[in-house]
Amino acid sequence: MAFNNRVKIKNVLQQDLIGQEITLMGWVRTKRSNKNVSFIALNDGSILTNYQVVADPEVIAEETLKRCSTGACLKIQGTVVASQGSGQQSELHARSIEVLGDADPEKYPLQPKKHSLEFLREIAHLRMRTNTFGAVFRVRHTLAYAVHTYFHTKGFFYIHTPIITASDAEGAGETFKVTTLDLNRPPKKEDGSIDYSQDFFERETNLTVSGQLEGELAAMALSEIYTFGPTFRAENSNTTRHLAEFWMIEPEMAFYDAEDNQTLAEDFLKYIISYALEHCAEDLAFLDQRAAEEEQTKPAEQRAELGLLDKLHFVVNNDFVRLTYTEAIDILRNSNHNKKKKFSYLIESWGTDLQSEHERYLVEKHFKKPVILTDYPKDIKAFYMRQNEDGKTVAAMDILFPGIGEIIGGSQREERLDKITQRMKEMHVPEKELWWYLDTRRFGATPHAGFGLGFERMVQFVTGMGNIRDVIAFPRTPGNAEF
Ligand code: 4AD
Ligand code: MG
Repeated sequence: MAFNNRVKIKNVLQQDLIGQEITLMGWVRTKRSNKNVSFIALNDGSILTNYQVVADPEVIAEETLKRCSTGACLKIQGTVVASQGSGQQSELHARSIEVLGDADPEKYPLQPKKHSLEFLREIAHLRMRTNTFGAVFRVRHTLAYAVHTYFHTKGFFYIHTPIITASDAEGAGETFKVTTLDLNRPPKKEDGSIDYSQDFFERETNLTVSGQLEGELAAMALSEIYTFGPTFRAENSNTTRHLAEFWMIEPEMAFYDAEDNQTLAEDFLKYIISYALEHCAEDLAFLDQRAAEEEQTKPAEQRAELGLLDKLHFVVNNDFVRLTYTEAIDILRNSNHNKKKKFSYLIESWGTDLQSEHERYLVEKHFKKPVILTDYPKDIKAFYMRQNEDGKTVAAMDILFPGIGEIIGGSQREERLDKITQRMKEMHVPEKELWWYLDTRRFGATPHAGFGLGFERMVQFVTGMGNIRDVIAFPRTPGNAEF
């Protein structure tokens, strides 16, 4: 007989199994006992709600009941019975309980009480057993599923781009090196520099910062593709929005211009948020409540105007604002915030990069809507963005979300060989190494565009979690690679 003939708690709650004999397996959240009866709240992760198991000390040995403490893993056989008490429709009357794994109450770190997110980060191996993290990871799964559903339905193909590469697509120099050389005694060239020709790949390599460049090659054959994979950035940013290892979704489309790109991005974001609203109603209601409680701990003037669910509906139901960088600079420069010197970085002239405080001002204070900012100065954007007629700006777009700031970065790509090579020279991007990328501009080039969505920032937005470390199972940040 197979071991796993259990019913998931989600199914017990959603089907009428009253009168049936079933097996449940899961972890004890709480146990309440008196002389006559024990109530065990069991959770198996399939759903937020715990399921009530009723154990009669005349049926279940006292020795066993004692071991059913918070955190223990149980296999319970019994009958589903209509529930007397309020709340749940049914409960399980245990006929037998097998303790699959004990959890010593003296040592188990999770107590049936509220723990701080900071504390839970230190026990990331156990935090998924809490209501909050269970909800976050079910929502994260659903969003990932929605991403694939969206693109599949539209006829995009999922391309797996390499994790190890020799290029730095964003040109920001924030890469993690990949090597098998002995770091204590690396082979050297005559001039004293490291001889990478003796390394595993016979050249210098790093972890990818983006799958875009390879994605573009695929779009030049399959028309519409997307990637969804891990990306790595060695930027030393200890913020609530940055990870050293994060997941990015990068669609890339032939025959798309900047406007087509913006329209796709807006439709895509609305689709995956709606999908989560439809399929994660219980978890999102719980997270809405959690976020509301957290807001209450903030000073009144810092509290969000909309609750989590209201905010998600608002984004789905309203058009995003589209405006150019130049228009945004005018708004920011003339804002009272700027005049009263409330920004840490004051906006003085056209051409400066926007900080997250400026992005959030536009979205949260000025427009109170998601914003698609376009046509940035070419000097603050990557070499591959299409140059506009004005000679100063490129066909970039950033999408800015309330509470998050930049959630998407993208652009129409420069498909003209002479323009892109000229820009690479100006920006010191090695043309020789990217010969394969430039070949797409030599053979059958066409207008094309794409963007990258930071998946964790999206999960943050949908779950209302304030810190990006709380929406990825095992976060990688400066000084932190435990688990
Ligand atoms: O704006 P970025 O750097 O754009 C690119 O990498 C392009 N190659 C994308 C493309 O056009 N195909 O990054 C895209 C998004 C950002 O908007 C942000 O949401 C997220 O990736 N992101 C990060 N998320 C978490 N931690 C970090 N360190 C991130 N850096 C970027
Ligand atoms: Mg960006």
